[in-house]
Amino acid sequence: MVLPHSLPLVPLPSSASVGVGRLPITESTRVIGDSPATTQLKDAVAQRTGIRLTASDVAAPGAIALRVDGTAAPAEGYRLTVADGVEIVGGDEAGLFYGVQTLRQLLSEDGGAWSLPHVEIVDAPRFPRRGVMLDVTRHFFDVTEVKRFIDETSALKFNHLHLHLSDDQGWRIHIDSWPKLTELSSASAADGDRGGYYTQDDYREIVAYATAHHMIVIPEIDLPGHTHAIGVAYPDLVEEPVLNDGLVSQAQELGQPLPVKGEPYLGWGVGHSSVRIHEERTYDFVRDVVRELAEITPGPYIHIGGDESLGTPQADFDLFAEKATAIVVEAGKIPVAWHEMGSAADIATGTVGQYWGKTTPEGSHAEEAEHFVARGGALIMSAADAAYLDMKYTPDFPLGLTWAAVIDVQRAYSWEPTAILDVPADAILGVEAPLWSETTRTYADVENLVFPRAGALAEVAWSPQEAPGRSWESFRERLATLAPQWRQRGVNFYPAPEIPWAAQ
Ligand code: ACM
Repeated sequence: MVLPHSLPLVPLPSSASVGVGRLPITESTRVIGDSPATTQLKDAVAQRTGIRLTASDVAAPGAIALRVDGTAAPAEGYRLTVADGVEIVGGDEAGLFYGVQTLRQLLSEDGGAWSLPHVEIVDAPRFPRRGVMLDVTRHFFDVTEVKRFIDETSALKFNHLHLHLSDDQGWRIHIDSWPKLTELSSASAADGDRGGYYTQDDYREIVAYATAHHMIVIPEIDLPGHTHAIGVAYPDLVEEPVLNDGLVSQAQELGQPLPVKGEPYLGWGVGHSSVRIHEERTYDFVRDVVRELAEITPGPYIHIGGDESLGTPQADFDLFAEKATAIVVEAGKIPVAWHEMGSAADIATGTVGQYWGKTTPEGSHAEEAEHFVARGGALIMSAADAAYLDMKYTPDFPLGLTWAAVIDVQRAYSWEPTAILDVPADAILGVEAPLWSETTRTYADVENLVFPRAGALAEVAWSPQEAPGRSWESFRERLATLAPQWRQRGVNFYPAPEIPWAAQ
């Protein structure tokens, strides 16, 4: 008997029993099923092994059969059996897709022959919300790069992609009713690097690709702060920059410029910008942007930002939070906001808060986050000292920042999202791991910060705490087995010394 947690799987399944035999996978292995996951399986096997599986309508010895059966597994869950053949039964199409991702990790090669271990896996996610965020503002990543990000994060069973589409350094999505945003405010990026933006067709292409990989796209327009770029296109919408001590000293230390209203901002400082809270035109703008985004976003959420509005007076900030979340509701979407917006007494009911404080909350962070739940909303946990993928792995790591923590793989793995705030467990929708892009000048840099830590956060979000083998010791052994797959797919992961990386 082989122990379940010795299976080469990340995230760990809820339960597994492992036999001793193996099932060969060869050119004569047939695939049965007509779901999109059937094609995804054939493509994944071809990519990993070079073997081109053939589709078949009828049962054949040793075949891989895929089907959906809502009575056999819950939403996003699946059962995977490998014996004389393979059967994957998804509770829905997403579950089937996750069963295929598991099968993909189970494939192994010995002397040129590919096979799967005999196994019976019953699996379903702990949290419905398993997110990653890509900041495409400080540095811009094009449609091809975002698709690669989707490929590799959906393979770890992440199911939400949050795109941070606007910030001080650039505006990244075309809005028909405010065309100067992309005309004048999108060419810039941090450090004077290349900017860019998505046309609405580009965005639709990303959404369609994400949907095919069972990921819901959450677009974020960050308001009322992080809005310097809006003022490059429409100066009448924003206030003069308000400088804070941290921003000024950081600018001196890094040799970066200070923000000047109406000119592109290429530094990393935060908290200096604000839209005008008491101008009706500001809300015309918010309404138009939210409406256009809602029209091209099939998912239920629009993220309205709310972080680090240090230059916006508190009463104005709260008023804005209430009006902006109400506008999202009017547009038929569920608002999402960074936890600071929980300071607003009348934040729209049902707004989802995104907690980005520490695993031990500081200041008013917990209180602000908990207010979303009091208002009938829920929470996404992005504890900055555990889930932030832009923090350095080691103090001298060449990429990343350190303001929240230095986060090695073990730190990213070892935290409990329900133990931070005083809210009912079911108010925690799940986890999101954000990648902020100040230091990632290329997509290869992004991958270096995201992988392997995304594997740790995937397990925090997917695997039940009580699943046999849900431990750091087991995780590091299992994570090690992803190296050959990542290498083969050209993923620029950081080979963290904590992990006994597999050569083959
Ligand atoms: C944040 O890191 N400013 C949400």
